Amino acid sequence: MSKNYSICVLPGDGIGPEVTDCARRVLDILAPNGGPSFTYDVQPAGHGTFLETGYSMPDASMAAAKAADAVFLGAMDVAEIPPGGGDPLGDMRIELEVSASVRPSRTIPGIPSPAADIDCVVVREVTEGLYSRIEYPVGDDAACAVRVITRAASTKTARTAFEQASERQRARAKGGSSKPARVTAVHKIGVLKLTDGLFLNACAEVAKDFPDIEYETRNIDACAMEMVREPGHFDVILATNAFGDILSDIAAGLAAGLGLASSGCIGERWAYFEPVHGTAPDIAGRGIANPCATILSAAMMLRYLGEESSADAVEAAVLSVIAKGDVLTGDLGGTASSAEMTDAIIQAL
Ligand code: IPM
Ligand code: MN
Repeated sequence: MSKNYSICVLPGDGIGPEVTDCARRVLDILAPNGGPSFTYDVQPAGHGTFLETGYSMPDASMAAAKAADAVFLGAMDVAEIPPGGGDPLGDMRIELEVSASVRPSRTIPGIPSPAADIDCVVVREVTEGLYSRIEYPVGDDAACAVRVITRAASTKTARTAFEQASERQRARAKGGSSKPARVTAVHKIGVLKLTDGLFLNACAEVAKDFPDIEYETRNIDACAMEMVREPGHFDVILATNAFGDILSDIAAGLAAGLGLASSGCIGERWAYFEPVHGTAPDIAGRGIANPCATILSAAMMLRYLGEESSADAVEAAVLSVIAKGDVLTGDLGGTASSAEMTDAIIQAL
């Protein structure tokens, strides 16, 4: 018996509504083929919602997110929302108690990339750190941001990273690869002695529970350089909020670009999925955005829901369309619209 899932969709701003529509079309083709079906609860959030209502994350949207089996986001113009207007992504991450964002990056056949052999996942803490939203002015000419690091969030994020490493090790062993499973925790301990001291301490504690996973640490600057010089070294990168934000974009840039970068934030009770890219206001509304990052995020959501075979099928369909190379959006070197590329993916499914 195929299951039905309730999905709270927050399309957001810019290309968000277009790309989430494409992903929904892909999800909706699963049921007629014996897969799961979905009931969508589409809710407002983002800069547009702020302009209409004065607040970017309505209580009703948050309640709907909590009531659903999973939350699916497009993109949000958070930079445009003034102080006091809310922080929809931050609110979501904090309220849904997700802690870690899982952001895989690997080279994809058919897409030219600067790094031939990158295949890693950045596990990024997303509720605190430099993005804890505690900022205040000090007189007229100075301002402070407080970098909060807690043992609880660090431990949860580290655990997610080591679980990812274990899963990847299992998957690789099946495929006959001997790449070691490795977690690299990223820090700036020489400067941020207390906060990164606590973070590394929590990571090392979790590492003890995973004796067969190699564990190492790197300074953020050295890690950034090594990612560019020797990307194949990395497997799972475990990072605090701001460092992970930057490293996940470096990884995406080295791999197939932001057009293919998906992410999922999974907590104990709730989870949400979103492309890593932003709202791309320059191309919004033109129907030419690359829908793949969002469709791959939908595949991550399927995996979270326990729909492994559908997740595999959606991923394979995206990869096959890219490998074939005749129906690609502009960013991938083609001339297809978002809808045409989505049609091709549905065909391949
Ligand atoms: C991301 C984005 C967000 C973040 C922004 C839009 C707040 O860049 O998901 O990586 O930094 O978390
Ligand atoms: Mn980012």
